[in-house]
Amino acid sequence: PIKVQKIACIGAGYVGGPTCSMIAYKCPHIQVTIVDVNQDRINAWNSDSLPIYEPGLEAIVKECRGRNLFFDTDIDKAIIEADLIFVSVNTPTKKSGVGAGYAADLFYVELCTRRIASVATSSKIVVEKSTVPCRTAQSMRTILEANSRPGLRFDILSNPEFLAEGTAINDLANPDRVLIGSLSTPEGRAAQLSLVDVYANWVDRQRCITTGLWSSELTKLAANALLAQRISSINALSAICEVTGADIDEVAHACGIDSRIGPKFLKSSVGFGGSCFQKDILNLVYLSESLNLPEVAEYWKQVITMNEYQKSRFAKNVVSSMFNTITHKKLAVLGFAFKKDTGDTRESPSATVCRFFRQENARISIYDPKVPEKQIFLDLTEPGVADDSVAVKEHVKVCTSAMEACTGAEGICVLTEWDEFKSLDWEAIYESMAKPAMVFDGRGILDADKLRSIGFKVFSIGKGVNL
Ligand code: NAI
Repeated sequence: PIKVQKIACIGAGYVGGPTCSMIAYKCPHIQVTIVDVNQDRINAWNSDSLPIYEPGLEAIVKECRGRNLFFDTDIDKAIIEADLIFVSVNTPTKKSGVGAGYAADLFYVELCTRRIASVATSSKIVVEKSTVPCRTAQSMRTILEANSRPGLRFDILSNPEFLAEGTAINDLANPDRVLIGSLSTPEGRAAQLSLVDVYANWVDRQRCITTGLWSSELTKLAANALLAQRISSINALSAICEVTGADIDEVAHACGIDSRIGPKFLKSSVGFGGSCFQKDILNLVYLSESLNLPEVAEYWKQVITMNEYQKSRFAKNVVSSMFNTITHKKLAVLGFAFKKDTGDTRESPSATVCRFFRQENARISIYDPKVPEKQIFLDLTEPGVADDSVAVKEHVKVCTSAMEACTGAEGICVLTEWDEFKSLDWEAIYESMAKPAMVFDGRGILDADKLRSIGFKVFSIGKGVNL
């Protein structure tokens, strides 16, 4: 195996940025260059305000930047210099054409692969970090071999990323496992070992799982599908709890004690979000359909159907609890990110619920500690609707504190589980609100009994409708 000395990472996003910053931090002897076509993003990585918020990230970047960690837009130079290249570009769900709405768009992955082939002057290990459908490595290899200079070798590895936004730095520093897939040829195995050697600078070798390429690619889709399925399962049960008077937290706790089930990821909520769960399941559904396995496709699709149901069930419950109309009523929305400790809003359930409220002509005041106002307006503007960017501002106000958002509101919806929402001055909020003051806890983080003793009417997911 070659000893990796220079790493390039193509794609300076939520995955490429943190993962390769961690490599630079843990491997001072390796030079790491993270490149992107997006000049603004690279400028931000080189500035004091990083383009993504992730607890602990800034300290790591500050320590390594300029030492053995570089952010650049010169993609060709980084490719030429590197002996190992991570491809960490986005793989969104296709919007049109064959597989629209399901299949992953591999356009950016292919573009990078072709770029590597055309500029490389030495042999490389090319690592898929992006989440891709099963057998993408095969296509990458074919493209590289057909387009590169004679005499060069390209070994493709699959090294999917399991970090979760919000806890990325801890996940990267102490991963449950690192998965590296390769071809089972001697050269493939040697490349696999080269990458294991990089991780072994801080990860126990026993946690570095080596598999075939296709298993590795499929594992990423499978892991996300299983995680999302747990959330949809508990959310499906939360609907039963609300009607029967059972308590979802008691049910989840008692189920989770069973060591075969385990306690994690059993928290019911307004629904899952984020850039990955839905996209990766749709990808799995598409894969199953193209393999002529319609029953398998239908099975996984149901995980998404249940998630959509949960979001709309929550939003409809707000309307029915508020005497069947929220027209012109002021609703406070606490939290817009898809989960706490991130500023990412991709597929955020909060955005879905806010769009529903907009349809009902409510006045919405939103507060999120990390999401910029510009992003909130962007997410709530209907694409393709003329003047909607103006109209949205008539209905939606972005606030700089929870208190500001809640003042004068008739209802409060907690849609992201930010810790600071637990310790708000709920008495003062109650005083400032129109009555009856209602709280809809979409994340199960508030002390409902305490709020009721203040005078609020409280709705918590999975707890029975005892407003
Ligand atoms: P992102 O959209 O934040 O970042 C991708 C970056 O790639 C963008 O900055 C874009 O400008 C750049 N890019 C696209 N084409 C390029 C090209 N040809 N040359 C250079 N740069 C290019 O996406 P994110 O969230 O980092 O995701 C990347 C991949 O990782 C996706 O496949 C995703 O499914 C996967 N993933 C994401 C996780 C997450 O938590 N966000 C977790 C695990 C995997």
